[in-house]
Parts: sequence; C-alpha cells; structure tokens
Amino acid sequence: MQNYRIRTIKIQATISFFSSLILFAALQIFFFFVPDGHALLISGIAFVLSFAAHFLIETNFLIKDYRVLRDDLENIDLFVKTLSAGKLSARMKVEDSGTINQVEQSLNELADKIDTQVKSLQRLVDENIEMNVKIKNEAVTEERQRLARDLHDAVSQQLFALSMLASAAEKTIHTNPDLAAENIADVSDIARKAQGEMRALLLHLRPVRLNDESLDKGLERLIQELDGKTVIHFEASIDPVAGLSKGVENHLFRLSQEALSNALRHSEATRVVLSLHEKDQLVNLTVFDNGRGFDLKQEKIASYGLKTMKERAEEIGGHFLLTTHKGEGTSVNIRVPIHREAVEHND
Ligand SMILES: Nc1ncnc2c1ncn2[C@@H]1O[C@H](COP(=O)(O)OP(=O)(O)OP(=O)(O)O)[C@@H](O)[C@H]1O
Ligand SMILES: [Mg+2]
Repeated sequence: MQNYRIRTIKIQATISFFSSLILFAALQIFFFFVPDGHALLISGIAFVLSFAAHFLIETNFLIKDYRVLRDDLENIDLFVKTLSAGKLSARMKVEDSGTINQVEQSLNELADKIDTQVKSLQRLVDENIEMNVKIKNEAVTEERQRLARDLHDAVSQQLFALSMLASAAEKTIHTNPDLAAENIADVSDIARKAQGEMRALLLHLRPVRLNDESLDKGLERLIQELDGKTVIHFEASIDPVAGLSKGVENHLFRLSQEALSNALRHSEATRVVLSLHEKDQLVNLTVFDNGRGFDLKQEKIASYGLKTMKERAEEIGGHFLLTTHKGEGTSVNIRVPIHREAVEHND
C-alpha cells in the first residue's frame, strides 16, 4: 500500500456536495441555452443522484483504505510487542515505498540498533564477570602469599628457635641447670609469641564480613573467641550503636580485626580492651593494649596494616588516631559520624 486517502465523512460529504453542485451548475447553463420546462427538476435530480453515487463510491474506497491502514498499524503494534518480548531478530516485511513503509523501514533499523546494543551489553557483562573472577583470584593469591610470608617470617622462625633452645636445654639440664632454666624461660617466651602470631593469622583467615550479625554482636563474639586462647586477657565494653549502614559496620569490624591482630602479634600485652560507644553523633571504636608500645617513626615502612587502617577509616568518613609510647601500650581510636537520616532514607 503506497498512499492512503484518509478523509473524514464530513470532508467526503463536502467534496461530493461541491462536485455535484458543479454538475448542477453545468446543467443550469445547458438549460439556459436549451430551455426546458423541467430544467430545474432535472438539474435537482441529477444533483441528488450525483451526490449519492459520488459519496457512496468514495466512501467505499475510503473504508477499504482505512482497513488496510488499520492492518498495517496492527502489524506495527505486533512487531513492537515482539521486540519488547525480547525477540530482537524479528523484522518487518517492507514491500513498497510510502509513508507507512518508511515507518516500517525505520522500525527495522531501530531493531537492528537495539539488537547490536544488546549484544555488546551482553559482551560487557561477560567481560565484567570474567574480570571479577580474575580480581577475586588475584586477591586470594595475594592473601595466600601474605599468609605464607607471615608463617615463614614469624611462626616458622619461632618454631626453629624453639627446637634449638629445647635441645640446648636438654643437653645442659644436668651439667648446667641454670643455663637450661634460662633456655626454658626463652622457650616459654617464644612459644607465647608464636601463639600470638598464630592467633593473629587465624584472625586474618576469619570471614571479613559480618553477614547478618550486628556490629556489637560480631565484636562481642570476636572478643569472646580470643579471650582464653592466649595469655592476653581480652575485654569488651560494647554498646549497640543504631543507624550504621552495613558498609560502615563491615569496615569497623575489619578495622577491629586489624587492630586486635596487631595487639596479638606485636604488643606483648597482658590486657587488651575493645570498646564501642556512641557520643555526639559519632561512633567511637577503641582498641587499647597495655603492651610494649612503639616508636611510630622507627617502625618498618614496608608494612601495610596501619596505612590500610587509616585509609579504611577515611573511606567511611572517619578519623583514625593511633596513640603509642614505648612501654606504655598502644591505643587505636576510630571515630565515624553517624548519618541516621541518610540511612533511614536509603532503607
Ligand atoms: N599494638 C602494637 N603494639 C606494638 N607494636 C605495634 C602495635 N601495632 C603495630 N605495631 C608496630 O607497628 C608496625 C607496623 O604495624 P602494621 O600493622 O602496619 O604492620 P604489620 O602488622 O607488621 O604487618 P601487616 O602488614 O601484616 O599488618 C608493626 O610491625 C609493629 O612493630
Ligand atoms: Mg598489622
């Protein structure tokens, strides 16, 4: 179908009226030259017949055109629905040229575009999944290397020292009991440190996330698990803090693990206290140990723990403060603003 004669009944009636009026006028002119007593009657009948015939024939054509147009529009509607249902390979049959055929052609081009875009979107999603798997694998490898390094640097060295000291004590226990006693004291000291290192390593192996647990419950469980496993006495002073997002809770939990791990590995403390409180719209997390303390300027630069803790605290808009003096223990304090309104809106 190329062109549609689309007219309303009113317009069609008007056209038929005027064309019949022309016929009426022509007959009137004719009867002017060939006078006839029934001129007006003949012209009137001719007008009425012409109007009826013209109107009926044209209306019939119009109805046919409307039907074809309706069918074409229905086809377009069906095609759009097919596309929305996901069958992007569907195309419209375009036969001739004309207004509707141009629309059909344009719709086919649009379908081509959508099809191409969906394909590239799917490719991107696939690439994204592959990349995520790669990143995850790299993170796992990195963590394994870190654990291997820690096991090698600390625990395996300590086990070696233990075996040397134990065999020295065994040899000298009868000949030089004082030296043997010294060796045994060293054995006990090194075994305690190794135990701390092992606990710290196990802490790294724990699941990083809190999952469905609230922060206060998770921290209480963590402290309970640590207390009694080493010579260090672990205490908790924890208030439930409402209004923290899951992301903030996870970060605070991870920060606690890192601070506790440092206390286990490096502090030589007898007591570690973890506290979580809310004050002035700030959540306040502190891990304090009464251990050896250290000089911040002198400690090794290659380690990432403290640096990562600072970055992690800043990521959630918090402030990280480490206070330590040689022989006076270490305190790690993190303060994070609580955005209650924002959290309520997000939910
Ligand atoms: N609670 C602590 N008591 C005593 N010394 C500490 C304490 N926390 C940290 N340190 C000292 O600061 C150093 C740096 O700590 P940091 O956590 O950055 O690194 P790390 O624990 O040695 O290694 P990692 O990168 O595995 O965390 C430690 O090596 C340790 O000497
Ligand atoms: Mg550390």
